Amino acid sequence: MSLPLRQCCVIGWPIAHSRSPLIHRLFAEQFGMALRYEKRAVQPGTVLATLAHLRQLGVLGINVTVPLKEEAYPLADHPHARAQAAGAANTLWFDESGQLHADNTDGVGLVRDLSFLAVNFQQARILVLGAGGAARGILPELARHNRHPITVANRNPARAAALPQANEFELIPLEREFAQPFDLVINATSASLTAHTAPALSASAVGPLTCCYDLSYGQDETLFLAWARAQGVAARHDGLGMLVEQAAEAFRLWHGKQPETRAIVAYLRQPR
Ligand code: ATR
Repeated sequence: MSLPLRQCCVIGWPIAHSRSPLIHRLFAEQFGMALRYEKRAVQPGTVLATLAHLRQLGVLGINVTVPLKEEAYPLADHPHARAQAAGAANTLWFDESGQLHADNTDGVGLVRDLSFLAVNFQQARILVLGAGGAARGILPELARHNRHPITVANRNPARAAALPQANEFELIPLEREFAQPFDLVINATSASLTAHTAPALSASAVGPLTCCYDLSYGQDETLFLAWARAQGVAARHDGLGMLVEQAAEAFRLWHGKQPETRAIVAYLRQPR
């Protein structure tokens, strides 16, 4: 007898580049699970109508990517704590009565990747660049694990002040000199996408022992990591590991199974 087919998808705008279908297919193979996981291009402003359609189609789980995470969050009947803390959702699912649940797995994805990379984020002095949707996803989880207040640098100070729990962070303008380098600098801006540049951060933010992490990833080195290399930063990581880890947490929420991740990160890194 064949297993029932589970249907999931990722929504975003644009979505063509998404690697989530491949990652979830590789997870499903680990458990011999019959999974259909599609990408769907969804225009901003149309998430509500899309969710009604997906519910009718019998779709179980939905990942939400840029720029729809903040639009998706308030549509849930049951926002879980991590989505509430972020004010944004990247993982949705329908329960048996058709009610919509929302969670945010970005923060746990980052923290797990940092752990696998042996980056000591618990005791690090952390600088996060950006205060948009990506930053909102990671800040609550980082703050939960970190013993120091996290510094958040954003170009637009009003946007940083509007972050959930903004009073827990040290908010600073992006262009600022620092007396001492940070231990960990995380790029959560979309500068490479929107301006094709690295964020305008002072070189004084980093030193040879700083670790630089970019939530972005791609075939080529990201612009922020190229900037970090030019400053002599040895420990540089892109966001591919976080992508796989946040997907694993979504998979666990939907299917109740914890997939193995690191072989998949290695597989995705192979040149093709
Ligand atoms: P995302 O969901 O990817 O976080 P977003 O919510 O639009 O997208 O947020 C983009 C973030 O990148 C913001 O923090 C933005 O800074 P502003 O709030 O000042 O706009 C930041 N950003 C985008 N382009 C940037 C650039 N060229 N330099 C510095 N920061 C930039």
